[in-house]
Amino acid sequence: MSWKTAIEQTILSTTANMNRFKDKFPHVSNGDGKYELVNNTGWTEGFWSGILWLSYEYNQDQAIREAAVQSVASFKRRMEQGSHLDHHDIGFLYSLSAKAQWIVEQDESARELALQAADVLMKRWRPESQLFQAWGQVGDPENGGRIIIDCLMNLPLLCWATEQTGDRKYAEAAYIHAEKSRRFLVRGDDSSYHTFYFNPETGDSIRGGTHQGFKDGSTWTRGQAWGIYGFALAYRYFKEPQFLEASKRLARYFIAHLPEDHVAYWDFDAPQTAGTPRDSSASAITACGLLELIEHLPDDDTEREFFLTSVQQSMTSLINHYFTAGDRDEQGFLRHGSYSVRSGASPDDFVIWGDYFFLEALLRLDKGIPGYWYGR
Ligand code: GLY
Repeated sequence: MSWKTAIEQTILSTTANMNRFKDKFPHVSNGDGKYELVNNTGWTEGFWSGILWLSYEYNQDQAIREAAVQSVASFKRRMEQGSHLDHHDIGFLYSLSAKAQWIVEQDESARELALQAADVLMKRWRPESQLFQAWGQVGDPENGGRIIIDCLMNLPLLCWATEQTGDRKYAEAAYIHAEKSRRFLVRGDDSSYHTFYFNPETGDSIRGGTHQGFKDGSTWTRGQAWGIYGFALAYRYFKEPQFLEASKRLARYFIAHLPEDHVAYWDFDAPQTAGTPRDSSASAITACGLLELIEHLPDDDTEREFFLTSVQQSMTSLINHYFTAGDRDEQGFLRHGSYSVRSGASPDDFVIWGDYFFLEALLRLDKGIPGYWYGR
């Protein structure tokens, strides 16, 4: 199946889903193939908005645009109400909704909303420890000085805010956090920690650990994927070679540890048996991350072909073995995503971010449309 056919099949699912979801947001399925529909209070709602904006960019369908605009209105209300904004995932939420609308149609109020979101994210900056605290309140005994690799995908909102406003404070904080992530989350063998703890008062490093991975020292597949993409985006903004190198190192490890069908298990260190869950979303995120990484490699770079081949192999496998291919009875695009195998939460299900990144990868491949992480 061509990339184009796959995109068109996702759009069949999306138009069916618009009728199913109405003003709710899909999160994950729970063993029954049906998306759990939630209000706009979690960390995943931006992905549905992003799917709508990508689909509209592809086909200019006005009904899809209307649904996308309505989703941004929901994010505006969330901002006005200050509802569930005190965590680091503001970048995931507002990059794919308000910033997307600004990118697609230069809507000034969407730009303002995305800039407000960047200010909200700055409230997670902890000057004493020089990091963005992922979860919990200031002084939280468990999370007060804790970073997580996923946060690399929240940083582009800050870099974009600096570009838009000229105020360096956003990008400066993002740079320090990205550099700390590189130094402490990327391990010597090119694997990664999911999270790392620092002393919240002094910033002294304490230890690496995990939240969703198999164990503290293991490599949670999706975390590695966030790192591949996040460091490539950090390179786009900061143009410092260590970020490109970090993205490449994590990518080489990810590719070297893929099973035969080129789609990752949920953790590279989890014992592999016939029943070990995959995380198709990690492979979709990595496809996007590799396509971003490739954009920053010189034409004669010897690894270009290696990374591109990996994207093609993984995306072909996702399409042939994981994709629901526009079946209107199915709600998600990609089967066999895992939210948290460790805690038994949707270990083998549809996950809305898997669908978003699958579509982003297809649009990057077919049309060069890169998603909404950076301004265009
Ligand atoms: N950012 C949360 C996750 O990847 O599950």
